[in-house]
Amino acid sequence: MYQYQSINSEKGTALPTSPPTIKTPQRQYSPSRPRFRISFFTTLFFLGTFSLYKTFLPSSLCSHHHHPDVAKVQRCSITNFKSDLSFLDNAPPIQADEFLQRRDRLAQALVRNKVDAFVLEPGYTFQYYGNISQVDWEPWEPEERPFLMLIMPQISPHDGKVSAKTAFLSPHFEEGRVRMLGIPSHEAELDIVIWEEHWNPYTTLLESRLFKDTESPTLMVDEEMRDFIVRGLDAYGFRTVGLTPEAELVRQQKSAAEVALLRAVNTGTVAAVRAMRPCLVPGLTEDQVTSILDKTLLSVGFSLFFDIVLFEEHGALPHGGFVTGGKKLTYDSMVVIDVGAHYLGYSSDICRSFLIDAPPSSLGKHAADPLRAEKEKVWQIVLEAQTAAAGAMKPNNTAASVDIAARTVIEDAGYGYGFTHRLGHGIGIKAHESPYLNKWNTAALLQPGMTFTNEPGIYLEGKFGVRHEDIYLVKEDGEAELLTGQRARGLYKP
Ligand SMILES: *[C@@H]1O[C@H](CO)[C@@H](O)[C@H](O)[C@H]1NC(C)=O
Ligand SMILES: *[C@@H]1O[C@H](CO)[C@@H](O)[C@H](O)[C@H]1NC(C)=O
Repeated sequence: MYQYQSINSEKGTALPTSPPTIKTPQRQYSPSRPRFRISFFTTLFFLGTFSLYKTFLPSSLCSHHHHPDVAKVQRCSITNFKSDLSFLDNAPPIQADEFLQRRDRLAQALVRNKVDAFVLEPGYTFQYYGNISQVDWEPWEPEERPFLMLIMPQISPHDGKVSAKTAFLSPHFEEGRVRMLGIPSHEAELDIVIWEEHWNPYTTLLESRLFKDTESPTLMVDEEMRDFIVRGLDAYGFRTVGLTPEAELVRQQKSAAEVALLRAVNTGTVAAVRAMRPCLVPGLTEDQVTSILDKTLLSVGFSLFFDIVLFEEHGALPHGGFVTGGKKLTYDSMVVIDVGAHYLGYSSDICRSFLIDAPPSSLGKHAADPLRAEKEKVWQIVLEAQTAAAGAMKPNNTAASVDIAARTVIEDAGYGYGFTHRLGHGIGIKAHESPYLNKWNTAALLQPGMTFTNEPGIYLEGKFGVRHEDIYLVKEDGEAELLTGQRARGLYKP
């Protein structure tokens, strides 16, 4: 996913000035990273020194006056996480039929919009309609040769029902590879228009059997389509238009199967953070905690997506920055973890803000934290803001109204200046999907089946930050449904 994300405008590197909804993609964990290669003799030396030390000191002291035992924390986290995997129940992969139904729903939107075909390149949208992504098609870099999928409405002469006809434009020499991708299809054979390397692909498409009866066809181009292809289509006889709200709505409204997968991966990701927290000890760095959480997520078959771990004042920058990673955990650190994983093509994106457990009472004489009272207060305000936003997630409410519900709580508490980003965004196969929950988005109306992040935060520069992020499903009637299992309940109960 990393290669693909780097060409996607939603997924740039997070700079301190970037909009906070941009996530920094996490590099895949590589077991051969040098910092994990500790030689046998170093290990022996450490073990020896440690046991001598243990002999002369109460054991509880060792844990925080010594280097933390990362391997032990790692084992603890994975064991806790695996003790309850019920979040994986009832979340089967998307079936072939569903991909075809998605295209039929799109075809119906195209008829309403008077468009002849929807055209897309391998990417997230292709994954949604065709079950293949950019990575499946081209693992190295985007190809200069257009390979396109076309979804065209066809109207039944008998009952007037609209369904989708799917076709492809492919370089001739790649035809076999396209057929091997396993794209779900009604037909036994995919309908592929081929072009030779010395032909113009756009003219080839225009003159093909697909458009022989259509005078200057109108194509709706996907948002991920690269500009040079759109220009090529426009220059050689097509008229292109952008996404319409009707077309976007197809992907925005999740099916029951999608909701089940979103519930599984998001509930599981929260469970991973919750499982890890009691294992954490002072002295661990942000990078070590990132690695521990990554391996915890991998242990149940999730794949890594992003994982931002920030302690104390680092958390006041919503997505961290280049200087973060080395700060050490203390009993007073406000820990902010914003993490997403993938499971069967679906994304999680959750955030928790918490403290680690206080030292054993026999030794509990650490200096009082002057920020403690404010941490508790801010933590609670952010939770109340999240509650207010969840209450506003009803059909026909504007996207803006949901952001404003949360923002009003934070502003009334005097921290409006500290809530520096929008409330949230749609989520599905991509972590960030439309509609976006910001206070200017009065155009988008919530509809049943839409899924959103609800992630208010307060960021106090030089002190700490707090953000709570959960996922909600807008229901036809009543309150939005939580897809993250359980919300945060306290500083020690993320
Ligand atoms: C979709 O793609 C995934 C990953 O390649 C594959 O495991 C799954 O079987 C495919 N689903 C269908 C319905 O073809
Ligand atoms: C939302 O608005 C539409 C159009 O006005 C209406 O038909 C529908 O019943 C409304 N839905 C709800 C849940 O109020």
